[in-house]
Amino acid sequence: MRVLVAGGAGFIGSAYVRRRLGADPGSSVRVLDKLTYAGRRENLDGLDPDRVELVQGDISDPESVADAVEDCDAIVNFAAESHVDRSIHSPGEFIQTDVFGAFVLLEAAREAGVRHLQVSTDEVYGSLESGSFLEDSALAPSSPYSASKAGGDLVVGAYHQTYGADTVIVRGSNNYGPRQHPEKLIPLCILNALAGDPLPVYGDGMQVRNWIFVEDFCAAIDLILARGEPGEVYNVGGPDELPNLEVVKLILELTGRDHSLIEHVTDRPGHDRRYSLSSQKVRELGWESGLGFADGLRRTVEWYRDNEWWWDPIRSGEYRSYYERHYGRALR
Ligand code: NAD
Ligand code: TYD
Repeated sequence: MRVLVAGGAGFIGSAYVRRRLGADPGSSVRVLDKLTYAGRRENLDGLDPDRVELVQGDISDPESVADAVEDCDAIVNFAAESHVDRSIHSPGEFIQTDVFGAFVLLEAAREAGVRHLQVSTDEVYGSLESGSFLEDSALAPSSPYSASKAGGDLVVGAYHQTYGADTVIVRGSNNYGPRQHPEKLIPLCILNALAGDPLPVYGDGMQVRNWIFVEDFCAAIDLILARGEPGEVYNVGGPDELPNLEVVKLILELTGRDHSLIEHVTDRPGHDRRYSLSSQKVRELGWESGLGFADGLRRTVEWYRDNEWWWDPIRSGEYRSYYERHYGRALR
């Protein structure tokens, strides 16, 4: 089996490529990735070049997509602009990739007669005070990021209803683990703590996220690719829900720093208070939520400690000026 993995040079996409190759020894992968600031060839280092091909291209370009899908048996789409804060400053790129790009991939999948698995997010449901979202909960996105992901999901649903296309949607909760770009909370705080920089906490830090270790999410995606019912949506949430402040304190403990590094900063506009997913449906396919947050976070901190070669070019490159613009202070 050969799978076209769109966005496979990013954080979750590259973990999925590893999962796919490991789970199915006869398989191969073609990665189609625009290699934006978030996509990196290094993320695929160490993989067998006879089984992984990386094609640089944009999912919103029909020609690149038509070439890339040739001889593939399925498409798994991770390609997206993925950061809420950036979506607040430049929403247009999000609509272009997350909605229009998803449409171009769907067209190619329909033409080729192959399954299209859309990787989506719990953020499409919006925020909730108590309980957990089910797959048929209403979509109520708050940010340009989550609205563009919801738009992509709606197009996927329409392709199934209208054309009978073989589609599935997987909505994951907040992922963490190796190779996540330091614009996101967990790697940002790990690297700042290691360097002795302050850890910026938006508002009161009591916003709750449902954390899932990236390898557990990728295992669910692979299972759903094989066994998910056409036209269905599957929620995939992690075992633990924590307020951001607690996450930040755990990172300080694991890096041997004290709470004086915590810095409350201006809250994100439209900030969702809490996400929570029910994963009952994917459990019925045989998936279990896996690594608890304390163990997963320990592994993640160790990975960043041991892999400075991976993050140093990011932390010393364009990200520095992004950080300065966004947080109003320089990194060490
Ligand atoms: P990421 O930003 O690390 O990676 C995105 C990848 O997509 C990068 O390799 C980038 O180069 C590529 N890309 C961007 N625009 C593209 C385009 N136009 N054409 C081709 N490639 C393009 O993101 P991630 O955290 O790995 O997220 C992957 C997917 O999972 C996204 O669809 C995201 O919405 C979804 N998701 C993420 C999380 C999370 O916590 N990170 C949770 C649930 C769902
Ligand atoms: P993030 O990793 O950006 O993921 P998402 O917004 O998709 O959930 O943020 C996770 C949580 O951490 C979210 O509530 C926003 C918060 N946060 C901070 O408090 N400080 C930060 O510097 C960042 C990037 C996020």
